Amino acid sequence: MLKEGEAVLSDITNETVIDAWDQNAEKSLSAFEEEGDFARRYLLNPAIFDILGHVGNKRILDAGCGNGYLSRLLARRGARVTGVEPASAFHKYASERETNEQLGIEYVCSDLCRFNGAGNFDAVVANMVLMDIPDFETALLQCANALREGGLFVFSIAHPCFEEGGQRFMHDGYIQVREYFAEYVIDQPVAPMFHRPMSAYVNRMLSLNFSLVRMIEPQLSPKTVEEYPNYRRDAHIPCYILFGFQKRAFC
Ligand SMILES: C[S@@+](CC[C@H](N)C(=O)[O-])C[C@H]1O[C@@H](n2cnc3c(N)ncnc32)[C@H](O)[C@@H]1O
Repeated sequence: MLKEGEAVLSDITNETVIDAWDQNAEKSLSAFEEEGDFARRYLLNPAIFDILGHVGNKRILDAGCGNGYLSRLLARRGARVTGVEPASAFHKYASERETNEQLGIEYVCSDLCRFNGAGNFDAVVANMVLMDIPDFETALLQCANALREGGLFVFSIAHPCFEEGGQRFMHDGYIQVREYFAEYVIDQPVAPMFHRPMSAYVNRMLSLNFSLVRMIEPQLSPKTVEEYPNYRRDAHIPCYILFGFQKRAFC
Protein backbone atom coordinates (compact mmCIF):
# COMPACT_ATOMS: atom_id res chain seq x y z
CA MET A 1 0.00 0.00 0.00
CA LEU A 2 1.34 3.44 -0.89
CA LYS A 3 1.07 6.60 1.13
CA GLU A 4 -1.65 9.11 0.34
CA GLY A 5 -0.74 11.41 -2.53
CA GLU A 6 1.82 9.08 -4.03
CA ALA A 7 1.72 8.30 -7.72
CA VAL A 8 2.26 4.75 -8.86
CA LEU A 9 5.63 4.15 -10.47
CA SER A 10 5.12 4.87 -14.14
CA ASP A 11 7.31 5.70 -17.09
CA ILE A 12 8.59 9.01 -15.70
CA THR A 13 11.78 9.81 -17.59
CA ASN A 14 14.87 11.76 -16.59
CA GLU A 15 13.66 14.53 -18.93
CA THR A 16 10.28 14.81 -17.12
CA VAL A 17 12.04 15.28 -13.79
CA ILE A 18 14.61 17.74 -15.14
CA ASP A 19 11.78 19.78 -16.67
CA ALA A 20 9.98 19.89 -13.30
CA TRP A 21 13.16 21.16 -11.60
CA ASP A 22 13.57 23.77 -14.33
CA GLN A 23 9.97 25.01 -14.05
CA ASN A 24 10.13 25.25 -10.24
CA ALA A 25 13.73 26.41 -9.80
CA GLU A 26 12.64 29.72 -8.27
CA LYS A 27 11.01 27.97 -5.25
CA SER A 28 14.22 26.16 -4.49
CA LEU A 29 16.50 29.18 -5.11
CA SER A 30 14.58 31.37 -2.68
CA ALA A 31 14.99 28.80 0.15
CA PHE A 32 18.79 28.90 -0.06
CA GLU A 33 21.41 31.01 1.71
CA GLU A 34 25.15 30.89 1.00
CA GLU A 35 25.55 27.50 2.71
CA GLY A 36 22.19 26.12 1.54
CA ASP A 37 18.96 25.58 3.46
CA PHE A 38 18.62 24.46 7.10
CA ALA A 39 19.18 20.75 6.34
CA ARG A 40 22.31 21.48 4.34
CA ARG A 41 23.80 23.86 6.91
CA TYR A 42 23.24 21.67 9.96
CA LEU A 43 23.10 18.09 8.66
CA LEU A 44 24.36 17.52 5.12
CA ASN A 45 27.34 19.89 4.70
CA PRO A 46 29.14 18.83 7.91
CA ALA A 47 28.74 15.15 6.95
CA ILE A 48 29.92 15.73 3.36
CA PHE A 49 33.04 17.61 4.48
CA ASP A 50 33.70 14.99 7.15
CA ILE A 51 33.69 12.18 4.55
CA LEU A 52 35.61 14.16 1.91
CA GLY A 53 38.39 15.27 4.28
CA HIS A 54 40.92 17.73 2.92
CA VAL A 55 39.72 19.04 -0.47
CA GLY A 56 42.51 21.53 -1.29
CA ASN A 57 43.62 21.16 -4.92
CA LYS A 58 41.46 18.08 -5.45
CA ARG A 59 39.42 17.75 -8.65
CA ILE A 60 35.83 17.41 -7.51
CA LEU A 61 32.68 16.79 -9.51
CA ASP A 62 29.50 18.22 -7.96
CA ALA A 63 27.00 15.90 -9.67
CA GLY A 64 23.53 17.49 -9.92
CA CYS A 65 24.86 20.73 -8.43
CA GLY A 66 21.57 22.70 -8.49
CA ASN A 67 22.30 26.37 -7.80
CA GLY A 68 25.97 25.50 -7.16
CA TYR A 69 26.10 26.37 -3.43
CA LEU A 70 28.25 23.27 -2.66
CA SER A 71 30.50 23.87 -5.67
CA ARG A 72 31.19 27.35 -4.30
CA LEU A 73 31.86 26.06 -0.77
CA LEU A 74 34.26 23.45 -2.17
CA ALA A 75 36.04 25.97 -4.43
CA ARG A 76 36.45 28.38 -1.50
CA ARG A 77 38.23 25.53 0.32
CA GLY A 78 40.67 25.21 -2.57
CA ALA A 79 39.09 22.40 -4.65
CA ARG A 80 39.03 22.47 -8.46
CA VAL A 81 35.33 22.02 -9.09
CA THR A 82 33.14 21.01 -12.00
CA GLY A 83 29.39 21.24 -11.45
CA VAL A 84 26.98 19.25 -13.63
CA GLU A 85 23.37 20.37 -13.67
CA PRO A 86 20.72 19.68 -16.33
CA ALA A 87 18.04 22.23 -15.31
CA SER A 88 18.89 25.34 -17.30
CA ALA A 89 17.51 27.78 -14.68
CA PHE A 90 19.95 26.43 -12.06
CA HIS A 91 22.79 26.24 -14.57
CA LYS A 92 22.21 29.87 -15.55
CA TYR A 93 22.11 31.01 -11.91
CA ALA A 94 25.32 29.13 -11.02
CA SER A 95 27.12 30.35 -14.16
CA GLU A 96 26.20 33.97 -13.47
CA ARG A 97 27.48 33.65 -9.90
CA GLU A 98 30.73 32.24 -11.32
CA THR A 99 31.07 35.16 -13.74
CA ASN A 100 30.82 37.55 -10.78
CA GLU A 101 32.82 35.60 -8.21
CA GLN A 102 35.53 33.93 -10.34
CA LEU A 103 36.08 30.86 -8.17
CA GLY A 104 37.37 28.79 -11.08
CA ILE A 105 34.29 26.52 -11.22
CA GLU A 106 33.29 24.98 -14.53
CA TYR A 107 29.54 24.41 -14.91
CA VAL A 108 28.24 21.90 -17.47
CA CYS A 109 24.55 21.78 -18.40
CA SER A 110 23.89 18.05 -18.80
CA ASP A 111 21.93 15.08 -17.54
CA LEU A 112 24.34 13.17 -15.29
CA CYS A 113 23.53 10.03 -17.28
CA ARG A 114 25.09 11.67 -20.37
CA PHE A 115 28.08 13.28 -18.64
CA ASN A 116 31.49 11.81 -19.45
CA GLY A 117 33.95 12.57 -16.63
CA ALA A 118 36.62 10.29 -18.18
CA GLY A 119 38.21 9.23 -14.90
CA ASN A 120 39.45 12.77 -14.28
CA PHE A 121 38.14 13.35 -10.76
CA ASP A 122 39.57 12.67 -7.29
CA ALA A 123 36.09 12.86 -5.77
CA VAL A 124 32.47 13.00 -6.87
CA VAL A 125 29.73 14.40 -4.63
CA ALA A 126 26.03 13.88 -5.40
CA ASN A 127 24.16 15.79 -2.71
CA MET A 128 20.44 14.88 -2.57
CA VAL A 129 20.33 13.99 -6.27
CA LEU A 130 20.15 10.24 -6.85
CA MET A 131 16.67 9.72 -5.38
CA ASP A 132 15.50 12.34 -7.92
CA ILE A 133 16.77 10.45 -10.97
CA PRO A 134 14.58 7.75 -12.56
CA ASP A 135 17.57 6.08 -14.26
CA PHE A 136 19.72 6.13 -11.10
CA GLU A 137 21.74 3.10 -12.17
CA THR A 138 23.18 4.92 -15.20
CA ALA A 139 23.76 8.03 -13.06
CA LEU A 140 25.78 5.93 -10.59
CA LEU A 141 27.73 4.37 -13.47
CA GLN A 142 28.65 7.80 -14.86
CA CYS A 143 29.74 9.01 -11.41
CA ALA A 144 31.86 5.87 -11.10
CA ASN A 145 33.41 6.43 -14.54
CA ALA A 146 34.25 10.04 -13.68
CA LEU A 147 36.53 8.93 -10.82
CA ARG A 148 40.17 7.90 -10.95
CA GLU A 149 41.12 4.65 -9.22
CA GLY A 150 41.14 5.21 -5.46
CA GLY A 151 38.79 8.20 -5.87
CA LEU A 152 35.95 8.84 -3.44
CA PHE A 153 32.26 8.95 -4.26
CA VAL A 154 30.15 10.69 -1.62
CA PHE A 155 26.39 10.79 -1.94
CA SER A 156 23.47 11.75 0.24
CA ILE A 157 19.86 10.72 -0.25
CA ALA A 158 16.63 11.11 1.69
CA HIS A 159 16.83 8.22 4.18
CA PRO A 160 14.67 5.54 2.51
CA CYS A 161 13.65 4.05 5.87
CA PHE A 162 12.17 7.28 7.23
CA GLU A 163 10.70 9.39 4.44
CA GLU A 164 7.55 10.59 6.16
CA GLY A 165 7.73 14.37 6.79
CA GLY A 166 8.51 16.01 10.14
CA GLN A 167 4.89 17.10 10.80
CA ARG A 168 3.78 13.63 11.89
CA PHE A 169 6.64 13.41 14.36
CA MET A 170 5.85 16.84 15.81
CA HIS A 171 2.21 15.84 16.24
CA ASP A 172 2.41 12.16 17.29
CA GLY A 173 6.02 11.70 18.35
CA TYR A 174 6.62 9.01 15.74
CA ILE A 175 6.59 8.45 12.00
CA GLN A 176 5.11 5.58 10.03
CA VAL A 177 6.62 3.26 7.44
CA ARG A 178 4.14 1.41 5.24
CA GLU A 179 6.05 0.19 2.19
CA TYR A 180 9.81 -0.21 2.07
CA PHE A 181 10.71 -2.86 -0.50
CA ALA A 182 8.89 -1.53 -3.57
CA GLU A 183 10.16 1.24 -5.82
CA TYR A 184 7.60 4.05 -6.13
CA VAL A 185 7.16 7.75 -6.83
CA ILE A 186 6.66 10.25 -4.02
CA ASP A 187 5.06 13.52 -5.10
CA GLN A 188 7.00 16.55 -3.92
CA PRO A 189 6.24 20.27 -4.34
CA VAL A 190 9.14 20.85 -6.77
CA ALA A 191 9.72 17.52 -8.55
CA PRO A 192 8.93 13.84 -7.91
CA MET A 193 11.24 11.72 -5.83
CA PHE A 194 11.78 7.96 -6.09
CA HIS A 195 11.70 5.62 -3.14
CA ARG A 196 14.05 2.65 -3.42
CA PRO A 197 15.39 0.37 -0.72
CA MET A 198 18.86 1.30 0.47
CA SER A 199 20.27 -1.96 -0.91
CA ALA A 200 19.48 -0.75 -4.47
CA TYR A 201 22.11 2.00 -4.12
CA VAL A 202 24.64 0.03 -2.10
CA ASN A 203 24.54 -3.09 -4.29
CA ARG A 204 24.85 -1.02 -7.46
CA MET A 205 28.03 0.60 -6.07
CA LEU A 206 29.46 -2.78 -5.02
CA SER A 207 28.76 -4.14 -8.52
CA LEU A 208 30.74 -1.21 -9.95
CA ASN A 209 33.80 -2.34 -7.95
CA PHE A 210 33.59 0.18 -5.11
CA SER A 211 34.17 -0.42 -1.39
CA LEU A 212 31.95 1.17 1.23
CA VAL A 213 34.21 3.25 3.47
CA ARG A 214 31.84 5.53 5.44
CA MET A 215 28.18 5.92 6.26
CA ILE A 216 26.69 8.85 8.19
CA GLU A 217 23.11 9.32 9.41
CA PRO A 218 23.35 12.98 10.46
CA GLN A 219 21.76 13.93 13.78
CA LEU A 220 20.87 17.39 15.03
CA SER A 221 22.67 18.41 18.23
CA PRO A 222 20.63 19.28 21.36
CA LYS A 223 21.98 22.84 21.15
CA THR A 224 20.63 23.28 17.60
CA VAL A 225 17.27 21.74 18.58
CA GLU A 226 17.03 24.27 21.41
CA GLU A 227 17.47 27.04 18.87
CA TYR A 228 15.24 25.43 16.18
CA PRO A 229 12.59 23.32 18.00
CA ASN A 230 10.62 22.77 14.78
CA TYR A 231 13.43 20.47 13.63
CA ARG A 232 13.23 18.24 16.75
CA ARG A 233 12.62 15.16 14.60
CA ASP A 234 16.20 15.37 13.28
CA ALA A 235 17.54 14.76 16.78
CA HIS A 236 15.69 11.41 16.95
CA ILE A 237 15.18 10.02 13.44
CA PRO A 238 17.54 10.60 10.48
CA CYS A 239 16.04 12.33 7.46
CA TYR A 240 19.18 11.71 5.40
CA ILE A 241 21.85 9.10 4.89
CA LEU A 242 25.30 9.64 3.38
CA PHE A 243 27.66 7.09 1.90
CA GLY A 244 31.37 7.23 1.10
CA PHE A 245 32.48 4.69 -1.53
CA GLN A 246 36.02 4.24 -2.79
CA LYS A 247 36.83 3.12 -6.34
CA ARG A 248 38.92 -0.04 -6.27
CA ALA A 249 41.68 -0.88 -8.71
CA PHE A 250 40.75 -3.46 -11.36
CA CYS A 251 43.06 -6.44 -11.02
C1 LIG B 1 17.38 18.24 -4.40
S1 LIG B 1 18.21 19.07 -5.70
C2 LIG B 1 19.87 19.06 -5.08
C3 LIG B 1 20.74 20.08 -5.76
C4 LIG B 1 22.12 20.26 -5.13
N1 LIG B 1 22.92 19.07 -5.20
C5 LIG B 1 21.96 20.73 -3.72
O1 LIG B 1 22.31 19.99 -2.79
O2 LIG B 1 21.45 21.83 -3.54
C6 LIG B 1 18.25 17.82 -6.97
C7 LIG B 1 19.00 18.26 -8.20
O3 LIG B 1 19.16 17.14 -9.07
C8 LIG B 1 19.07 17.63 -10.38
N2 LIG B 1 18.77 16.52 -11.29
C9 LIG B 1 17.58 15.95 -11.58
N3 LIG B 1 17.74 15.00 -12.53
C10 LIG B 1 19.06 14.96 -12.83
C11 LIG B 1 19.84 14.22 -13.74
N4 LIG B 1 19.30 13.29 -14.54
N5 LIG B 1 21.17 14.46 -13.82
C12 LIG B 1 21.73 15.39 -12.99
N6 LIG B 1 21.04 16.13 -12.10
C13 LIG B 1 19.72 15.92 -12.02
C14 LIG B 1 17.95 18.65 -10.29
O4 LIG B 1 17.92 19.49 -11.42
C15 LIG B 1 18.31 19.36 -9.00
O5 LIG B 1 19.21 20.41 -9.21
